[in-house]
Amino acid sequence: MNKIPVSLNVNGREENLEIPPHKTLLEVIRDDLNLTGTKCGCEDGTCGTCTVLLDGAAVRSCLLLAAEVQGHEIVTIEGLADGERLHPVQQAIVNHGGVQCGFCTPGMILSAKALLDKQPSPTESVVRQAISGNLCRCTGYTKIVESIMALSGQPVSS
Ligand code: FES
Ligand code: FES
Repeated sequence: MNKIPVSLNVNGREENLEIPPHKTLLEVIRDDLNLTGTKCGCEDGTCGTCTVLLDGAAVRSCLLLAAEVQGHEIVTIEGLADGERLHPVQQAIVNHGGVQCGFCTPGMILSAKALLDKQPSPTESVVRQAISGNLCRCTGYTKIVESIMALSGQPVSS
């Protein structure tokens, strides 16, 4: 199969790859870069488990070709912690019990980070809207929303 050269900036590292042109960003992240924190769920844009940041915006990596995103900055869940110190969104999710099986968690955290970077004090309805594309089958969302709201400084409706 024909391969093409693709250079990607992932978590601040320049990655030079030879890949088939149809390979998705999700496939490259998981299979070529071995960054398996990004989860593969539906592969059709429905579940949000494959969410990564593209120039700071939350995107579904299963819907993008890796070749399309050359020259852009990609951040996966592995790029968030600073050594042993978790990113504040990760720490909030831990502190508030926003994880059960964990399958949705990387994508959920990245969607929350994209929101909070743009809008540091979102209301609960804005938070719920921002994570509405990230499906969670375990938590019922309440503790995830509480985790994000703990960083927003805004009240949570009871
Ligand atoms: S795997 Fe990408 S949205 Fe489900
Ligand atoms: S914690 Fe299991 S899918 Fe969200």
